[in-house]
Amino acid sequence: MLKITRLTDPELAGLVDEELYRQEHNIEMIASESTVPVPVMELSGSVFTNKTLEGYPGARYQAGSLVADKVEILANERARKLFDAEHVNIQSYSGSTANYSVFASILKPGDKILSMRLDQGGHLTHGSPANWVSKIYSHSFYGVDPETEQIDYNDLKEKAMEDKPKLIIAGGSSYPRLIDYERISKIAKEVGAYFMVDMAHVAGLVAAGVIPSPIPHADFVSSSTTKTFCSARSGMVFCKKEHARLLDKGTFPGSLGSLHLTTMAAKAWSFKYAATDEFKEIMEQVVVNARKLADELQGHGFRIVSGGTDNHLLVIDLREKGITGDKFQTALDSVGITVNKNLIPFDPEKPSVTSGVRIGLTAITQRGLRESEVIKIAEIMNLIASAPDDKKVLEDCKASAQELISNFPLYPEGTFVD
Ligand SMILES: Cc1ncc(COP(=O)(O)O)c(C=O)c1O
Repeated sequence: MLKITRLTDPELAGLVDEELYRQEHNIEMIASESTVPVPVMELSGSVFTNKTLEGYPGARYQAGSLVADKVEILANERARKLFDAEHVNIQSYSGSTANYSVFASILKPGDKILSMRLDQGGHLTHGSPANWVSKIYSHSFYGVDPETEQIDYNDLKEKAMEDKPKLIIAGGSSYPRLIDYERISKIAKEVGAYFMVDMAHVAGLVAAGVIPSPIPHADFVSSSTTKTFCSARSGMVFCKKEHARLLDKGTFPGSLGSLHLTTMAAKAWSFKYAATDEFKEIMEQVVVNARKLADELQGHGFRIVSGGTDNHLLVIDLREKGITGDKFQTALDSVGITVNKNLIPFDPEKPSVTSGVRIGLTAITQRGLRESEVIKIAEIMNLIASAPDDKKVLEDCKASAQELISNFPLYPEGTFVD
């Protein structure tokens, strides 16, 4: 795949080889990661990268759009069918810009947004003070119930009644439970707000019908196409037909420039692939593996935030194990298990330290790991949490992790032979 790069820039080709080796030899459990099928990589680097194009099929600003139009129309048709949506815009470059295009479609500076707290599972782009969005709009946040650690719908409703937001957002980056979209949609209607769901983390599970879809309930549904959707580094937004013109204007020229036709084609491939039994079976197994890991870790004395998971991820509270998220992440990384430190709800630690880690099961499930391997991963995690500084324990765990993952190739043999 890197034939010419190898000749023209061996240094860079070497870095790609290094990263391939790292991924092959690591147990990747970052919840936002997955492994893209080879056609997604091929299409992401195609000649469509040469074409500059703005606008929509039938209303372009540049000539030479005939073939590109076919790609966008095909991608739109496949996406609408897969997600059973009334309208889609697949011009977004990522999950973040998908959100920005919804904001550009319906909000004016100063308008109010009600979204989930970042430190309890939300996302930066939903109004965190660290993100530029917070400078344009006015924000309030709902959180989780301290007992159940699941969304406090009464708190959400009270805040919605009090603040009368223009937009209510559900969905986030570390929320392991199903969301009652219907209930939030009713609240939004009561207060006259638009309802947007950011399904970036769960789009693959939704496409496969493994968890309920937000699309029937929300005005807008945004998403990245990486994570559980296992596709290109890109984005997409669905909406009700009545908002189609607003969304298209808010996307281009409202918030984005020319099309990324390469990733658009890659997404089109994935909209077809996600309808296959193969993809559905992987997504079903992702949830089975996540539940198994939660059960196993609980058996080893870890506390799982909210008591378990309904999707592809779990958040572990490490306080009973006497180790911080930061330290656990580093120790796991040293043996070849990749996770990320994560705040738990009401975390006493700062974001750079944290009391928890977030773990996702998508990438390892794609490689073929099942419950018996998940049991072994939980055992390794437990050993490391108990002795994160013990060199012998780390060495033994590294050997076990390597042996485990070496049975499950990242890509079929020969994929990267030039
Ligand atoms: C809920 C949510 N929305 C949006 C994004 C941003 O997606 P991207 O990284 O594709 O811009 C993320 C990424 O972590 C996310 O978790």
